[in-house]
Amino acid sequence: MSSPAAVPATSASIRSGIAAVDRYLETGYETVPGMSSRFAAAICCGLLRMQTQMGVTGPIAEIGPFEGRFFIALAHALAPGEKALGIDLFDWPNPEVVDRFEANCARHGIPADRRITWKADSRRMAPAELLAKLDGRHPRFVHIDGEHSRAALTRDLELATAVLAPEGVIVLDDMLHPGYPTLMVAVHEYLGRHPEMCVLCVIDRETVVAATKFVLCRRDWFKRYEEKLLEAYKDNVWPLGADFEPHWCLVLSLDTRLAEIV
Ligand SMILES: C[S@@+](CC[C@H](N)C(=O)[O-])C[C@H]1O[C@@H](n2cnc3c(N)ncnc32)[C@H](O)[C@@H]1O
Repeated sequence: MSSPAAVPATSASIRSGIAAVDRYLETGYETVPGMSSRFAAAICCGLLRMQTQMGVTGPIAEIGPFEGRFFIALAHALAPGEKALGIDLFDWPNPEVVDRFEANCARHGIPADRRITWKADSRRMAPAELLAKLDGRHPRFVHIDGEHSRAALTRDLELATAVLAPEGVIVLDDMLHPGYPTLMVAVHEYLGRHPEMCVLCVIDRETVVAATKFVLCRRDWFKRYEEKLLEAYKDNVWPLGADFEPHWCLVLSLDTRLAEIV
């Protein structure tokens, strides 16, 4: 493990390793309204690159793409023939948000045949309905960023787990956020119900808006992913890691410093 940097890095220095993603992160990401951090987008698309390199294929899905900021980055990381599914109520802050989502995707290089826009309520969605939208293909990556209540996250987590490819990952937004303390309760209850799942890594916040994400995967894929993350993002490993009692996982951060003692 490298020694912690003396000053925090900025997200502009973090790459996914996919040229189309990194170009969008550099020139388009901040121009699309949204709430996910650029740091998290780079790491998540880096994970998609690792999946492709390991032979993990399939579509991706996001619950709550809003205007498409994070969705466009993910869609740029798809392999040929794969699609991105965006599920949103598309009614906030006004019904025209769906038009802005479509326009942002088109403007930033995600053509209509690479994306599926689904105006729907994830709380009332059966796994079979979601899979039907993907022609029966199991997603390799699901980003959950919909309603931020304990009950809604619980339902979205069960939906994502039911449709996820065995080698897939689930990414949760706004973890450890001061405004949504009960989301952590939902995550811990979920991990208790699903011992086959674990937290692969914590992607630290950039700001209170661009908050922390957790990445979850099946336990039997944990080591394979962790090894790849350690290799690609060794400079962003916060040395102490995260303690999920008894499971430990990586913390990836722009600020890898520790408190100074003596
Ligand atoms: C915080 S925004 C997402 C921001 C976006 N993921 C990003 O990274 O920029 C939350 C989105 O979740 C959507 N949403 C909330 N409840 C939902 C539900 N039950 N089903 C589908 N979408 C939902 C909202 O309409 C909103 O667009």
